[in-house]
Amino acid sequence: MEHGLTRDVKKFRDLKELSLAAASDIAELIVGTVSRKGHFSLALSGGGTPRTLHGLLGSVYRDKIPWESVYVYFGDERYVPHTDRQSNYLMAKETLLDLVPISPVNVHPIPTDLDVPSEAAAAYERELRRNFGEGDSSFDLILLGMGGEGHTASLFPGSPALDEIRRWVMSAEVPATPHTRVTLTYPIINRAFAVYFLVSGADKREALREVLGADADYHTYPAKGVAPFRGRLEWWVDSAALMG
Ligand code: 6PG
Repeated sequence: MEHGLTRDVKKFRDLKELSLAAASDIAELIVGTVSRKGHFSLALSGGGTPRTLHGLLGSVYRDKIPWESVYVYFGDERYVPHTDRQSNYLMAKETLLDLVPISPVNVHPIPTDLDVPSEAAAAYERELRRNFGEGDSSFDLILLGMGGEGHTASLFPGSPALDEIRRWVMSAEVPATPHTRVTLTYPIINRAFAVYFLVSGADKREALREVLGADADYHTYPAKGVAPFRGRLEWWVDSAALMG
């Protein structure tokens, strides 16, 4: 592994090496946080990149992580039933949650069964505010991915959600399929104690160069708007995504 392209970028040979290192780091972070404050709040992302990480957390680290003290949330969701193959919840369930001894009451999927997606967003926001609204509590770790055009969670280029300063969760119509999404917004993402981006593959190269550079605008490259105001931002990338 090479450290130090910038302080916050960790570069690995490939997705497997990246996932092995991330799983070890995350397991250690969970164990340390739970022993310090008794619980750990984790937001998962969708997409294909986290699957290998999930598999490792659910096997190699299954018995090392105090799952009864872990609370699982989601950074975004596709507005389809939780049984649909496109559902981020279903992906997390099959690749991680079904493998570990976590109680269903600790798992907080984004609802997708309300008539109007904005109502689902409001309901999820109420749930988050119940848990994080008081004091300075927030996610201990948000995992995010990045699309080839720089979107993250379901914050896409040009979306009105990018300039939201009040709501923590919004519905959005996006150019990718399925089009209807519910997503966390910057005000809650940037309140996290740690945010890790997992980025793999040559199709991410151009957006990654822009987002790690100084000049990109978050309206064009939404991943650029992720800047936790009191926490750590780490980029876990592979050599196909970040040349040189
Ligand atoms: C989603 C995501 C999305 C994803 C990126 C990267 O629901 O689609 O949460 O933001 O993380 O598109 O996806 P890959 O890991 O598949 O490249």
